Amino acid sequence: MSLTRIKEGAAVIEVPQKVVEHITERNEVFYNPAMAVNRDLTVLLLRVFVREKDRPIKVAEPLAASAIRSIRILKEVPSVEKVFINDLSSEALKYARRNLELNEIPPEKVEVWNEDASVFLLKTKYYDYVDLDPFGSPVDFLDATAKALAHRGVAGITATDTAPLSGTYPKTCLRRYGAKPIDNEFYHEVGVRILIKKVAEVFFQYDLPIEVLFSYAYLHHFRVFVKRYRGARRVDELVKNKFGYLLYCHRCLYRSTVPLVRWNGAPRECPVCGHRLDWAGPLWVGELWNPDYAEEMLKELPSVEHQPETKKLLKAVVKESKLQTVGFYETSALGKALKLPFLPPKKVLLRELEGVETHFSPEGFRTNLPHEEVLKRVRNLVRE
Ligand SMILES: C[S@@+](CC[C@H](N)C(=O)[O-])C[C@H]1O[C@@H](n2cnc3c(N)ncnc32)[C@H](O)[C@@H]1O
Ligand SMILES: [Zn+2]
Repeated sequence: MSLTRIKEGAAVIEVPQKVVEHITERNEVFYNPAMAVNRDLTVLLLRVFVREKDRPIKVAEPLAASAIRSIRILKEVPSVEKVFINDLSSEALKYARRNLELNEIPPEKVEVWNEDASVFLLKTKYYDYVDLDPFGSPVDFLDATAKALAHRGVAGITATDTAPLSGTYPKTCLRRYGAKPIDNEFYHEVGVRILIKKVAEVFFQYDLPIEVLFSYAYLHHFRVFVKRYRGARRVDELVKNKFGYLLYCHRCLYRSTVPLVRWNGAPRECPVCGHRLDWAGPLWVGELWNPDYAEEMLKELPSVEHQPETKKLLKAVVKESKLQTVGFYETSALGKALKLPFLPPKKVLLRELEGVETHFSPEGFRTNLPHEEVLKRVRNLVRE
């Protein structure tokens, strides 16, 4: 079989040529170039994370495929004690082992396992970092991840089933994530918030509070990084304050959230235009980023060979992490809802609405202004 050599970050790997040309779920071993941004951000986050620790970290990659991610972590993150690499496919592991050799990874730095991901995690726990990177939904592996993380450990979790999470298949979302998605201008953000809610509730059932360090949507995947703590009281607080529902008006774009525990008294009609309100959730209404983490990751960027898109995404997140609203506005949706004859340029809107751009959408921006004030200022801009 002909092999292709690929260089990404500090790693060089070899994978079968057909895999690069044709990525499908059926490919047993594969390398997805579109995921380079995902791996860049993982390395950047871990470079920040290891600074918190006074000892080298123990890492698990339960769904490793070619092992590119583990190799990058070993070569690009200082202070990694050992990486445990696992895949259910023995074919994948053949390439993973080759690639470890190709990169001259010292044998004492890795352990290779051939198990189901959950079984592997439970047999080899505890870890400072677990990377879940499945093809599709990560739900299958959340329970073992929660149990395999050490105190103050971090999980990096990918979901590529963005269609259910962002409203194309609402029944699948309800079944898999226990939440209703929504079809609006910030449906991707809602998808990420539903994913976080699912991760959180699995951790919460074991009295493990979480903090979201970083999250994003990019092309065909969502990604969240959560840090695990301990304490039932803290979980109670998080359930009370960070689990909620989104209320949304498709006519005037009004949006607000209501805590899960107060869903009973939620309004049914839009307080601005009287239209019947739609809703999404339950979802995570808390922070999507730790702004200090995002900023420190950006500072690490010059030390890591990365994709141009990684820089773009990270810079946008650093800005939006300072204004963490639930939902954002999009210029065209505002124009349509207000039936405007034309739209002011985005630059003007950002200035007049005290807005900050979002990585979720090139047209989107966040603002802390009340909804009615947003509508008023946009109308005035068009009238001028
Ligand atoms: C998307 S790939 C991983 C890509 C890799 N993390 C990267 O960054 O390039 C998913 C891998 O999970 C493996 N896999 C699927 N189900 C599994 C299971 N239950 N346990 C362990 N591995 C599994 C597949 O063989 C495949 O290699
Ligand atoms: Zn309304």
